[in-house]
Amino acid sequence: KRLAVFVSGGGSNFKAIHEATLKGSVLGDVVVLVTNKGDCGGAAYAKEYGIPVVLFPRRKEPQPFSPSDLVTTLREFKVDFILLAGYLKLIPVELVQHYQKRILNIHPSLLPAFGGKGYYGLKVHKAVISSGARYSGPTIHFVDEEFDTGRILAQRVVPVCAFDTPEELAARVLHEEHHLYVDVVAALCEDRIIWRDDGVPLIQSKE
Ligand code: GRF
Repeated sequence: KRLAVFVSGGGSNFKAIHEATLKGSVLGDVVVLVTNKGDCGGAAYAKEYGIPVVLFPRRKEPQPFSPSDLVTTLREFKVDFILLAGYLKLIPVELVQHYQKRILNIHPSLLPAFGGKGYYGLKVHKAVISSGARYSGPTIHFVDEEFDTGRILAQRVVPVCAFDTPEELAARVLHEEHHLYVDVVAALCEDRIIWRDDGVPLIQSKE
């Protein structure tokens, strides 16, 4: 399967997925990286590995590029699935409609708690700690038109320790994110996702 990864930051999830494609534990190829920050760590990593980088959104330079231009570009790359990995912009409706049930996002809390606009980065972990919640962990969900509201596909649980700083909790969750995203993308590429009658997606384990 042909994968597009969207990042805004360091791109550690992107690296984990890309490494899994090179090892063959994910039967797919990252064919394009999309970023809103051309100088982020994820973009640098993509360039190092010869993965084309597309800047989006982009207002002027090198030329205006609309959401439908992005859809056209992704179609040219023959993208099957889009993986959001720390991409902090809302996904244009055109893209959501064109790639129905084919866009995933990872969020660093147990959704539906601590999600939505404004919950990103360390803010998520600060809110989890101050709520007194004893568990947190990453969620992978399909993407719809809003932030963090699409159907939940997979979660992992990590403890929130008594005197955690947001940074410590973030690191514990991020470590789990890398494993979870690789496992989920492996399932996606092997067509192991099924949809329950009520619309909830499930992962079938390998027989
Ligand atoms: C992760 O915590 C992810 O859940 C969130 O942004 C962070 C991205 O980290 N959406 P990285 O760029 O993959 O290192």
